[in-house]
Amino acid sequence: MDEIIYLDNAATSFPKPDVVHDTVRDFYRDNGVNPGRTGCDLAINAEQMIHGTRKKFSAFFNKSLIDAGVEKDPNRLVFTMNATMSLNLIINGVVGPGDHVVTTVLEHNSVIRPVNHKVREGAEATYVKPDADGYIDPEDIRKAIKPNTKLVVVNHASNVTGVVQDIKAIGAVCEEEGVPFAVDTAQSAGVLPIDMAECNVSFLVFTGHKGLFGPTGTGGICVADDAEVKGTIYGGTGVRSAVPYHLEEYPYRLEAGTLNLAGIAGLSAGLDWVQKRGTASIYEHEMGLFGKLQTGLREIKGVSLWGTKNLKERVATLSVSVEHYDASDVGTILDVEYGIQTRTGLHCAPLIHEFHGSAPRGTVRFSVGPFNTDEHIEKAVNAVAEIAADRQ
Ligand code: ALA
Repeated sequence: MDEIIYLDNAATSFPKPDVVHDTVRDFYRDNGVNPGRTGCDLAINAEQMIHGTRKKFSAFFNKSLIDAGVEKDPNRLVFTMNATMSLNLIINGVVGPGDHVVTTVLEHNSVIRPVNHKVREGAEATYVKPDADGYIDPEDIRKAIKPNTKLVVVNHASNVTGVVQDIKAIGAVCEEEGVPFAVDTAQSAGVLPIDMAECNVSFLVFTGHKGLFGPTGTGGICVADDAEVKGTIYGGTGVRSAVPYHLEEYPYRLEAGTLNLAGIAGLSAGLDWVQKRGTASIYEHEMGLFGKLQTGLREIKGVSLWGTKNLKERVATLSVSVEHYDASDVGTILDVEYGIQTRTGLHCAPLIHEFHGSAPRGTVRFSVGPFNTDEHIEKAVNAVAEIAADRQ
């Protein structure tokens, strides 16, 4: 085995571009002080880098506003540790006892669990089901909305089957019904273009370490300028320390404590790298390889594919099962005997596995990234063919 073939980019993209490593090392070595806490030059450099990154991400998720010359408040781009923390901040800050949340069975536990905790505290939730391919009908979201619905939360791209939801149509429903719309872009940011205004998104949640190529421990929320969310974490902000309660102004409303300076520097470099290469070109590369992977795997006797077989309205993530094998055994054989890294099991998204029938053991998931090659895909298909043939 001469190299690792990494096909687990839905868990985290790997490798990261060299410029991300270089930026983390250089920025943190040269400016690694506490932004916003002192007036020294290094702290000002750190603060400027953070504010510049807020502006860059605000523009990235709001192209139509920027093109129209409309100012988007960069302070409503808040940094968190990951999409899970972002989703907790939104769900806890919007939904209270007696309120209703509409979400879907495609969600990750980063939605399911905070929503279920809200239900335990007296809220209600509706989990909308998709069609057999995994697509949500926006009209089913409308049917689920009730007078006490305070939030709709939808996963843009599934981390299990790669299916991509029509967030523009779902956003239009939310706008018509007057309900705030949160979108989890953990699997899509950096790969698919997303425009908050066009899709009527109130809260765009992102993670830094997947398609945006930042380090782990980075992520955030872009809050629309007219969206309302209460702060639910409290602490130091570096400004107005005598005020006894947490500040309501952004970004402080959703940030407390010292930010991940090195991580945000790397995240900024990651976004620069994505924009230089272009989301469309990254998507085209990944989907070109994905098409070969899907075709190759579906031709193997004993291999079944879960979810949509479309090559459009999806990202390059595929879940499969191999007859007569537990998914985890296939993952282990791929890893140990072929050097191929995948993720097996339920992928922290149990409801979509239940829906498709792949629960409780889950699937073997392949997820393609920009550094994968034709050779990686050929080796993965050949490896699965050999594994499947052993038990036919
Ligand atoms: N949510 C990530 C995954 O699907 C970690 O693997």
